[in-house]
Amino acid sequence: MAVPVSTNTPILRVGLAGLGTVGSAVWKRLTSQKDLLQQRTGTEIRVDQVAVRNPKRAKEIGVPENLTTADWRTLVANPDLEVVVELIGGTTDAFELIKTSLQNGKHVITANKALLAEHGAELFATALKNQRHLLFEASVAGGIPIIRALREGLVANRILSIHGIINGTCNYILTRMNEAGLEFKDALAEAKEKGYAEADDSLDVDGHDTAHKAAVLAALAYGFWVPQGELYTEGLRAVEKQDIVYARKLGYGLKLLAIIKTDSDGAVEVRVHPTLIPQSNVLASVSGVFNAVLVRGDVVGDTLYYGRGAGGDPTASAVVSDLAQIAAHFPQEQKARNVGHEALHSRLKTMDEIVSRYYLRLLVVDRPGVLADVARVLASRQIGISSVIQPEAHAGETTPLILMLHDAPESQLKAAISEISTIGAVKAPPVHLRVEDFE
Ligand code: HSE
Repeated sequence: MAVPVSTNTPILRVGLAGLGTVGSAVWKRLTSQKDLLQQRTGTEIRVDQVAVRNPKRAKEIGVPENLTTADWRTLVANPDLEVVVELIGGTTDAFELIKTSLQNGKHVITANKALLAEHGAELFATALKNQRHLLFEASVAGGIPIIRALREGLVANRILSIHGIINGTCNYILTRMNEAGLEFKDALAEAKEKGYAEADDSLDVDGHDTAHKAAVLAALAYGFWVPQGELYTEGLRAVEKQDIVYARKLGYGLKLLAIIKTDSDGAVEVRVHPTLIPQSNVLASVSGVFNAVLVRGDVVGDTLYYGRGAGGDPTASAVVSDLAQIAAHFPQEQKARNVGHEALHSRLKTMDEIVSRYYLRLLVVDRPGVLADVARVLASRQIGISSVIQPEAHAGETTPLILMLHDAPESQLKAAISEISTIGAVKAPPVHLRVEDFE
């Protein structure tokens, strides 16, 4: 039903920068959902100007020519725009676009997690100084409203932990390795063929995209921006099909997780790496390109968010929700809120300090005493073994030896691994993966 046009309906004037996959989906959805959004927010959300490098693109999407400009600086300087939506990506022009827009008194909406991870502290300080909103629902997990859940739905909670599958490409690759028995490189080729992986696939498979998103979630949960150089990031390149097979035998699935948590000492850990998780945990059944985030709050307990983390429409759903948040209060304005200024500011643990359970895969010569030698090294570092798998082998041949280990500090595990590597019967560098039990 069309919303009756009232002369009193406020109009929120928006500048849209970028008409790529997400920008064009935002344009499309602001058009197709115009009446619905007006009913829900009491404001007309009107795109007054669109910055697009290639005018042909605007034509294809149906953006009227008189709204377009080839230069995003025109948007930033346009005094009639209340909001600028940054969807050009990258960290140079996008940084200038956002900072100058805020300084020029505009609210800004962005999906740019790489930019927030790198310059979040500065950009949010600029937003606060100018009392403008910098909203970023689309920056983590696409269409899943995880930012709003953390900022609003769970505001009464101290966040105890966040475990996220927040890169669809990596989850697709691991799903195909698990279900179709593909090796990593074949699963990556398939992900590329289907158009899932970023143009620079290193962003996905080396864990950087997940780390950018983890930094955003950590800033929301713990009030400070973890420098990317201090955020432990390990991607999928070293994952072998056999590790997925052994993990399954042991009752675990393998996922690329962003792990963000604190413990009783108040220090925070933020890390990204392939992780064994019990098959019984709900995250283990998240497959394909889907994302999921499990958040544990001290008041609410466990909450779970699941959905599509990428793609034009899911991401547009998040961008439009930010616009609607501004529109719902327009022309009055809500107080702008910082991200990363909370009194909760805590110390970041180094990787050596983290405590985890581990999966350890060795290639050993099957001869008497090898297991005892390995167990002795582990015991000397107070690391207990919780289970062992060794496929049947002929005496004297090499065979994998898989050990599940009890909780140990990473520093001890690393020291034990270097010592185990010197045992004569150990024939290849040991492979270790961390395990989360969600206790
Ligand atoms: N390349 C990302 C993914 C989507 O595969 O999830 C954008 O963040």
